[in-house]
Amino acid sequence: MPTLANNRPQPRQKVGAILLCAGRGERLGMDEYKGLVPLAGKPLFAWSLEALEQTADVDGIVVVGSRQRLQTALHATTFKFSKIVGWREGGRTRQESVALGLKTLPVKFTYVLIHDSARPLLTTELTLRVINDALEHGAAITAVPLEDTLKQAAGQTVSTTVARNNLWRAQTPQVFRRDWLETAHIKAVGEATDDATLVETLGHSVFITPGEASNFKITTREDLKLAETLLTHTKPPSL
Ligand code: CTP
Ligand code: MG
Repeated sequence: MPTLANNRPQPRQKVGAILLCAGRGERLGMDEYKGLVPLAGKPLFAWSLEALEQTADVDGIVVVGSRQRLQTALHATTFKFSKIVGWREGGRTRQESVALGLKTLPVKFTYVLIHDSARPLLTTELTLRVINDALEHGAAITAVPLEDTLKQAAGQTVSTTVARNNLWRAQTPQVFRRDWLETAHIKAVGEATDDATLVETLGHSVFITPGEASNFKITTREDLKLAETLLTHTKPPSL
């Protein structure tokens, strides 16, 4: 017979976000950190920072990147930020930047959300969904099903068509139990392009939260133009 104490609801886990802004944006080629590039009236990274701020279930945020330059850029915006709990200079690689952000995130945060600021069209709705799924499953990532037909080629000649059933394109946010993520980073061998890869390597199941196509990553000038158009003409509903 369970005691009354056992039936009490558990206190809600605290979710800390790590916002990655330390990339140099080399493929964008604008002689500026990608996060600081102007986008529809504010620095690129401020868009996803605002979305995280406005998501009720995000309890704190660590921003990874050049503190001085990012803060200066924020002072030029009118939005008031209240959830930032730490700043950290980035590392040489994305993986190093995440590991540094994790070290800066206070221990009370037992779940960690990681987001690339290079995805400025993040919505609070998607953020809430991936957090909920991670709280239930331990690890969850946003991803969109692959729609294009995939070709494997030798040079510019198709050698085979790859079945695309069950293929997804991983995005961020990605949310993990903190202990899983920390162990994954300690045990990491080599570089992974996302954190889920490291957590999968430990043998944990990672749940897929259906993402939004609009949450694309800005890599090239074309991506930047598309984001500018979308943010200028059709702001995401939750922003
Ligand atoms: N990132 C980071 N630290 C690094 C490298 C990348 O925090 N050392 C972050 C970027 O700020 C970005 C995300 O990881 O939000 C995804 O990286 P990517 O799209 O590759 O951005 P950049 O590295 O800035 O671009 P590029 O590879 O073209 O230089
Ligand atoms: Mg990069």
